[in-house]
Amino acid sequence: MAEERLQKILSKAGVASRRTAEAMILAGRVTVNGEKILTLGQKFDGITCKIAVDGRPISAPEKHIYVLLNKPKGYVSTVKDERGRPTVLDLVKDIAARIYPVGRLDRNTEGLILMTNDGALMNALLHPKYATEKKYVAKVSGDVREERLDKLRIGVSLEDGITTPAKVRVLEREAEEARVEIILREGRNRQVRRMFAAIGCDVVSLKRVEFAGLNLQGVKRGQYRLLTKEEVAYLYRLTGTRA
Ligand code: URA
Repeated sequence: MAEERLQKILSKAGVASRRTAEAMILAGRVTVNGEKILTLGQKFDGITCKIAVDGRPISAPEKHIYVLLNKPKGYVSTVKDERGRPTVLDLVKDIAARIYPVGRLDRNTEGLILMTNDGALMNALLHPKYATEKKYVAKVSGDVREERLDKLRIGVSLEDGITTPAKVRVLEREAEEARVEIILREGRNRQVRRMFAAIGCDVVSLKRVEFAGLNLQGVKRGQYRLLTKEEVAYLYRLTGTRA
């Protein structure tokens, strides 16, 4: 963890503004590892040092965690379920921080879901302005003719409005079913299922294989991995958000 000026650590921990924190330091109210700090400008590691104001330890600034989970079917993507069903949190039990899913997948949808405690990035990824791309593979039954899929490519009318154009391509066709890749830039509730229903088809199974350009490579069903620093920086760039 990088060292930072003491007044910055105090303000990031929500103790006071940077200016007030400086005054607190000069007034001899701040200790680091039990030692009173009386000058400005000294740098410390806010995670490993024991910092106190008026003898009371400050809480360490929260470290951001970014998890890419391959959610199996059967798990709800809320942090708590009033019906006691398994949640995505059950799959990341060994992560000590309080993290939240970035958006939702239906209980019966599997695949990629990000989880984080970085509220700024989470809001940006979910904000319609950034139109984050989500790629799904759906097994669809019914008459999956190209003319019908064209309706999805243009936009179909759902009860909450017309959908924006989706990218759609058939990966495999069998007599009664097809495997279809569909890329959306919206994130409405049960959107893929409702879009196919609107063209008279039924989604038999659904998997999200990509989110914001990240994929499931190397992450087995029910498992997760942490994002790399480069991936987090990429998501910040993608959404134009500042860390
Ligand atoms: N569309 C759906 O229908 N379900 C999901 O979980 C995600 C997108």
